[in-house]
Amino acid sequence: MDSFIIRQEIPADIPEIFEVNYQAFAHYDEARLVDSLRDDNIFNPELSLVAVHDGRIIGHIMFPPVTIESSRAIIPAIALAPLVVHPEFQCLGVGAALIEEGLKVCRTLGHRIVIVIGHPGYYPRYGFRPARENGISAPFTVDDDVFMVLALDPGALDGVEGMVKYPAAFDAIVGNSRTKGKKIQSLT
Ligand SMILES: CC(C)(COP(=O)(O)OP(=O)(O)OC[C@H]1O[C@@H](n2cnc3c(N)ncnc32)[C@H](O)[C@@H]1OP(=O)(O)O)[C@@H](O)C(=O)NCCC(=O)NCCS
Repeated sequence: MDSFIIRQEIPADIPEIFEVNYQAFAHYDEARLVDSLRDDNIFNPELSLVAVHDGRIIGHIMFPPVTIESSRAIIPAIALAPLVVHPEFQCLGVGAALIEEGLKVCRTLGHRIVIVIGHPGYYPRYGFRPARENGISAPFTVDDDVFMVLALDPGALDGVEGMVKYPAAFDAIVGNSRTKGKKIQSLT
């Protein structure tokens, strides 16, 4: 499908972004996460993109900042989370377009490392690899194959190791998974 555009979110999009996150996941965790991230003073609207078809928001992607922390260093990075495409428009290339445009913006803004927790059959096609192979760990229990990292320029991961620290907005989603006894499979 090529009849959609990708652009930065604007304030008027907020209710529709909430709705598309709800529709894609069929629960409110990610929709609320997006609102919390937006309320955070670290929010950068350049890193919240929407896919628009016929005046309607059909997809959304966000890249909140994280850090990779060890006793030696605190390295800035960016998370790809959440990513959603409305169920009526999935598997038409909208997710791919959001990821590709989003990663382009991340590069332009000088970001060098992207972390994702998501489907191991989907993200490797964009270059993501298991983060643990690089000595990067998650602050909660997660399978190695779903916890991935991407270097946006060669050498970005050289000497980088440590644990990813997510913004406090993620605490609710991680806490909900724990309460439901579910392992984290995706933070996207
Ligand atoms: C996952 C998601 C963002 C992909 O966006 P999309 O626009 O549907 O995907 P694209 O059209 O760019 O890519 C389609 C490919 O993704 C694969 N794909 C879609 N959803 C997938 C999933 N849940 N797990 C693994 N692969 C998936 C398709 O099989 C297809 O593969 P192919 O190219 O080999 O045929 C979208 O399906 C979605 O919003 N799903 C519900 C929310 C969700 O699970 N988000 C978390 C993503 S980790």
